[in-house]
Amino acid sequence: MKLLPLMFVFFGVSLCEVGNISEDDDIELERQVKMMNRPPVKTFVTEVGDTIDCIDIDKQPSLQHPLLKNHKVQKEPTLHLTGFGGNFSHTKSIQFGYKESCPVGTVPIPRITKKDLIRARALPRMPSSTAAGQDALQSNQHVLSLSLSLWVVSLTEDMTENTKYGVYGRLSTYNITVAHDQFSSHNLWIETGPKDHISMIAAGWMVSPQLYGDSLSRFFIYWTGNGYRDGCYNLLCPGFVLVDKELPFTEPLPVSTYGGDQYEVLIQIEQVYHSKFLQFVKNLSTNFPSDQDHKTGNWWLILFDDQTKIGYWPKELFLYLRDGSRHVAWGGVGLADSNGFCPPMGSGHKPDGNFKHATFIRRLQWIDAKGVPLLPSDKVSKWVDKTLVYDLQYHSKLWRRTFGHWIAYGGPGGYCRL
Ligand SMILES: *[C@@H]1O[C@H](CO)[C@@H](O)[C@H](O)[C@H]1NC(C)=O
Ligand SMILES: *[C@@H]1O[C@H](CO)[C@@H](O)[C@H](O)[C@H]1NC(C)=O
Ligand SMILES: *[C@@H]1O[C@H](CO)[C@@H](O)[C@H](O)[C@H]1NC(C)=O
Ligand SMILES: *[C@@H]1O[C@H](CO)[C@@H](O)[C@H](O)[C@H]1NC(C)=O
Repeated sequence: MKLLPLMFVFFGVSLCEVGNISEDDDIELERQVKMMNRPPVKTFVTEVGDTIDCIDIDKQPSLQHPLLKNHKVQKEPTLHLTGFGGNFSHTKSIQFGYKESCPVGTVPIPRITKKDLIRARALPRMPSSTAAGQDALQSNQHVLSLSLSLWVVSLTEDMTENTKYGVYGRLSTYNITVAHDQFSSHNLWIETGPKDHISMIAAGWMVSPQLYGDSLSRFFIYWTGNGYRDGCYNLLCPGFVLVDKELPFTEPLPVSTYGGDQYEVLIQIEQVYHSKFLQFVKNLSTNFPSDQDHKTGNWWLILFDDQTKIGYWPKELFLYLRDGSRHVAWGGVGLADSNGFCPPMGSGHKPDGNFKHATFIRRLQWIDAKGVPLLPSDKVSKWVDKTLVYDLQYHSKLWRRTFGHWIAYGGPGGYCRL
């Protein structure tokens, strides 16, 4: 595996606070902004004032990634997707996208400014859901001594005998207020590998002034292929290949109200490389046609009830996650500010058993080698970093058939250094 000097420099140093920028740094930022902004076919401004450039799908900035030099964009995947069910009369599925869409053959890329890159550099990496628990158990001191405190609340499917080829969940959304140097994320994880070289994908919704420049609840993705030496949030670095022309990345989401309407966003991440499935089918038919989609091993991001294929993380990006994943997880992350205050997470209320009170992720499922969605095993581990300010409840009994297995989690936040 080649190291990526480029990514290393720009995204590996994201832990330091950025104050004054040196001249060299400034030149690099300019260069990067230039690299990430390709000549648009069309440009439009969204309702909340984001500038979106429609870029030729074959010239999108992600293809500048050194590992994707000869990458051919997989435009029309014939994924064999399984439905996950779960329509429920007391929740509303979010179907979001830009009001204006891009011309055929182009994809909508939020314009990146130098300011965006500087703000994003100050943003800490997405923590691993499996490492969170281990770190804290091994040495609480270690976690506490970090100047940036990231606290994880999660349910991890840990039965490593089961290789996971995907994860699914329906996440309820809320408005919450966080300080400029805090963030609160609510997401699914896919991750494999030792801590220092972990490969990870995350997707969900987040409130992060540092990432977005405001406090709206917005969709986000994150990836790293090799222990944070590469990768980034959203489309701030090359990697994620967009296919849908109505990308909802930076769009603010409709939100639920405490005790009232519940809005949920459906997220599915699936690797379309079922080696065992292939073997299985080949056993059935020696004349099995070579199915390109089953060979690429790309991890697809699929949203909404209608299973819109947004785009994918090419397999080449990852040191691990090449043939399935050992772990999948559901939960949230709170980034405490420098004074030791944790942000609210979810609805700002701890779970109390009522799905309209705390934020939830429901219909928890993972996908096996044959593409079949399955319920979490009995080897799930529940992790709550700061029980004073956050909590998580796992409901593994089918409460209502359509609701599925679910977690409710989050809390009000508050002082959490001790
Ligand atoms: C930036 O540089 C200026 C002038 O050199 C200095 O006054 C200011 O305190 C510096 N700011 C930071 C955040 O270091
Ligand atoms: C769920 O409901 C939505 C809108 O009510 C509908 O468009 C969608 O097809 C339904 N999905 C399934 C899997 O029944
Ligand atoms: C959530 O916040 C946004 C932005 O401040 C606002 O427009 C929206 O009405 C709020 N929604 C609810 C349900 O409070
Ligand atoms: C396919 O056939 C091979 C050889 O006969 C066997 O070892 C393997 O277990 C089979 N795989 C599946 C998934 O049935």
